[in-house]
Amino acid sequence: MKLDKPAPTDHPVHELISRRWSPRAFAATPVEKEKMQRLFEAARWAASSSNVQPWRFLLTHQGTDAFRALHSCLSNGNKPWTQNVPILMLSVTDTIFPAKNDKPARDNPTAKHDLGLALANLSLQATDMGLHVHPMAGFDNGRVKEIFGLPTPYEPVTVTAIGYAADSSTLPDDLRGREEAPRSRKALSDFVFESSWGEPASFT
Ligand SMILES: Cc1cc2nc3c(=O)[nH]c(=O)nc-3n(C[C@H](O)[C@H](O)[C@H](O)COP(=O)(O)O)c2cc1C
Repeated sequence: MKLDKPAPTDHPVHELISRRWSPRAFAATPVEKEKMQRLFEAARWAASSSNVQPWRFLLTHQGTDAFRALHSCLSNGNKPWTQNVPILMLSVTDTIFPAKNDKPARDNPTAKHDLGLALANLSLQATDMGLHVHPMAGFDNGRVKEIFGLPTPYEPVTVTAIGYAADSSTLPDDLRGREEAPRSRKALSDFVFESSWGEPASFT
């Protein structure tokens, strides 16, 4: 069964938000060049602090040495289901605000936040084009830096699988169960507060 997993939302949201999800079963089908352009065009127009656009992406394609190198950095939990995905992408952020006018270069406290915004744009654009993305924090950060020679201010944050979702029956049993499990989230009252910390907002 090829799974759509629309979120069982408590309130109506845009369908791109409810339809986005992170599968583990991916088809080997390559992603069209035009769709790649549109994914990163979406990322490009994300908001960022002072418009510094700290995000950087390093793409690796199935069957290449670069793909094998990035795949080898993944955690044991992530290696099995990612071995046949068409694209593994390293997401990196520039942790330094560049010097501007009389202000010297300094740490950018929202570097990861802004990378996340770009990834969110990319994820929703992917959903709109029938693609899926699955981000992963489970990888060896130090090894990635070394293998790909990332200069000092650049920090790897996630590795993301990109491609078309496949039938969940292509997964081994243990992963198939997780693939088919219902989706869940905290209630609004657990994370939207009003007036004081911990006080659920009145509309929740
Ligand atoms: C920053 C980040 C790191 C993640 N790391 C992993 C990971 O290492 N392995 C994995 O299988 N999923 C990983 N995920 C996927 C989450 O488990 C998934 O987004 C979450 O369970 C919600 O499911 P959904 O994306 O289908 O709504 C990660 C997601 C994010 C945003």
